[in-house]
Amino acid sequence: MKDPLKKIRPEILKISAYLLKPHPYSIKLNQNENPFDAPDFIKEQLAMKVLQRPWGRYPDFYATGLCQKLATHTGWVPEGITVGNGSNELLQLALHLVLERGKKLLLVTPTFALYRIIGLSNAASILEVSFENFHEFPGRRLLETIERESPEALVFCSPNNPTGTSMDEGMLRQILELTDGLVVLDQAYHEFSEYHGIEAMKIHAHLVITRTFSKAMAAAGLRVGYLMAHPEVIRQVNKVKLPYNVNFVTLAAAEAMLDNFSSFVRPIQELVKERRRLYREMSEIDGIEVFPSQANFLLFRVRDAARVFGALQQKGILIRDVSSTPGLENCLRVTVGLSHENEQFLSVLKESVP
Ligand SMILES: Cc1ncc(COP(=O)(O)O)c(C=O)c1O
Repeated sequence: MKDPLKKIRPEILKISAYLLKPHPYSIKLNQNENPFDAPDFIKEQLAMKVLQRPWGRYPDFYATGLCQKLATHTGWVPEGITVGNGSNELLQLALHLVLERGKKLLLVTPTFALYRIIGLSNAASILEVSFENFHEFPGRRLLETIERESPEALVFCSPNNPTGTSMDEGMLRQILELTDGLVVLDQAYHEFSEYHGIEAMKIHAHLVITRTFSKAMAAAGLRVGYLMAHPEVIRQVNKVKLPYNVNFVTLAAAEAMLDNFSSFVRPIQELVKERRRLYREMSEIDGIEVFPSQANFLLFRVRDAARVFGALQQKGILIRDVSSTPGLENCLRVTVGLSHENEQFLSVLKESVP
């Protein structure tokens, strides 16, 4: 039998897969999802559309309707927007424009694992600047590294998963002035934070912003994200994007969600309020160091992460064990849930921390 892996690129063979081990749960606080769900009336409107529309016809080639609504929603130009089957797809496409063997991708770590996988699958070299603390991005070292290494692509996650750290506007502008690399700002969690970055894109044409409907918009199961950039960059992304990457059901759902954005505002505010409460209460527990967060999750350090994770799991509360990530020894990440879920989480946490 011939070796099926013989022709597979070595950089692909070397990658460790991005996997999430399934665990049973009754309270799910492990994937930064929105526990409020989309309102029923939006689902009902969508169900009617799905019944009426012929399934045999392809979706709109450019997702024009959704891009137009996103432009109104964000204040960016419609020709500077493209949509994807989740923002993951768009991150992959944006980096694919720039990276290849010998090119450098700069990340601030620990961060979302996918950036590294995308970089490695393009055979790029990964440069990492690590957080000194999780309160702020490591400004000086970051700028020094950019100046020394001239990376072709830079990805910043703000608020950063899993640390919750936000990059401030001043820092982003300094970076944009220093580099001519493609700067990708992943704002998957921006609705829970204060800085939104659109103004910076008006001045800096090498800034690309990705966002998603998976978190604040409670639509992780539908798979839809969007990328905003200079229209010239969008033209290049659209060349490598597969046609019809977002199906008509998802497009219609995303449009309906934007038409009814006001329905999402209260749940978002509620989650921010709950995040602040969780932060306060967790800060008071002996044996826990909790880090401030601008997102819908909190990172915290305990003395024995495996023991705390196990104790929560035994009570059916599933959070994320990130303790095997370099720099996150004994750290766990909890998604902000509904008030009663957070209550149960806190109560088991208090019992399980030695
Ligand atoms: C920082 C970050 N970016 C992107 C994504 C993926 O989003 P999507 O569901 O839009 O692919 C996630 C999901 O957890 C994330 O944490």
